[in-house]
Amino acid sequence: MTTPSINRRRDEFPTLHSGIHLLSHSLGPVPRAARNSMLAYYDAWEQHTSEDAWATNWWELSRRVGDQISIILGAVPGSVQIQPNASIALSTVASCFDFRSSKRNKVVTTALDFPSMEYIWDARKVLGARVEIIPSEDGIVVPLERVLKAIDETTCLVALSHTSFRSSYRIDAKPLVECAHKIGALVLLDVYQSAGTVELDASGWGVDFLIGGTIKWLCGGPACGYLYVRPDLQRDLRPRLTGWVAHEAPFEFAQSPMRYARSVRRFAQGTPSIPALYSALPGLQIIEAVGIEQIARESIRRTEWMVEFALERGWQLNSPRKAAERGGSVMIGVADGPMMVIQLAEKRVFVDARPGAGLRISPHFFNTDEEVQEAMATLAALIK
Ligand SMILES: Cc1ncc(COP(=O)(O)O)c(C=O)c1O
Repeated sequence: MTTPSINRRRDEFPTLHSGIHLLSHSLGPVPRAARNSMLAYYDAWEQHTSEDAWATNWWELSRRVGDQISIILGAVPGSVQIQPNASIALSTVASCFDFRSSKRNKVVTTALDFPSMEYIWDARKVLGARVEIIPSEDGIVVPLERVLKAIDETTCLVALSHTSFRSSYRIDAKPLVECAHKIGALVLLDVYQSAGTVELDASGWGVDFLIGGTIKWLCGGPACGYLYVRPDLQRDLRPRLTGWVAHEAPFEFAQSPMRYARSVRRFAQGTPSIPALYSALPGLQIIEAVGIEQIARESIRRTEWMVEFALERGWQLNSPRKAAERGGSVMIGVADGPMMVIQLAEKRVFVDARPGAGLRISPHFFNTDEEVQEAMATLAALIK
């Protein structure tokens, strides 16, 4: 591998001293600046003797973090609402549909999605939702044509992962959105495994919703999910999963009926997790400074090298062969995934395993080429 010059900002991630961190699909390393950010939160909190915390900081922080995330999603400012987590973000969107009173009551999703997806749609069946889960024949891909074939004039929403947590399979978003819109269906993409490592173009794709969170590729803390809503949808939809923060004038504490905010805030619920917002900001700022384009280029260069390395040795590749169909992870089938994770951790190589997927290995911008090479060589020695 010939290494391009990129500021890997390694000194800013204390966790990297522990070994080779290839876990960004699960738990990103914490930036050193998060400590100061959390302390600043605590210091300010200690000073607050009234509701001024909201006025001076807490209220605008959600918007600020949302705007920081919008840069990574290729979206305009004011289009991202912070959520407690990605599952609630999805439930909030699901709660906008009245499945019983419309002939458009079918939701299309796939077997490669994160389990919350199936659980949430399953729970909507009693409310009249019809759910089609498109299977994956090889456990790695669900071809775009299969998804397109399932979309018909009864489909209200296509909801699936942009990049699968199981196989790293990445669907081509633009033709999916174009085709769904032509038939009158909306599209939600779960970009949890894309945002921060793959270039996204929410505005250009015209996608209706994106969901995700900060703890993985975005080097943030837990419980900071997000929901992107296409700007022209922000005035119409009425989420039934709601709360006072979604009100047009929350500090009026008005009685019902609900008057939804005429902005993306209408998709909020109650008090935001302020500590989570503080924990997420430094990682988001680092990702923005390094640059998504640069990070994505690095990801492709390294995952290509890893795929070649695996194929040359006859290993079982559980991710797509082509970079254009892959996210930032490479999945390798091994005889006993959990055991291999332990053996690699003993050699200070940190990856994880999932049933059916095998090892999940994810280089990010902060990894050196030497680390990626050493990790793969260590795995090769253990596989022998
Ligand atoms: C693709 C994807 N979607 C959703 C989730 C779940 O997110 P949350 O815990 O924020 O609901 C994960 C977590 O691993 C994920 O990988």
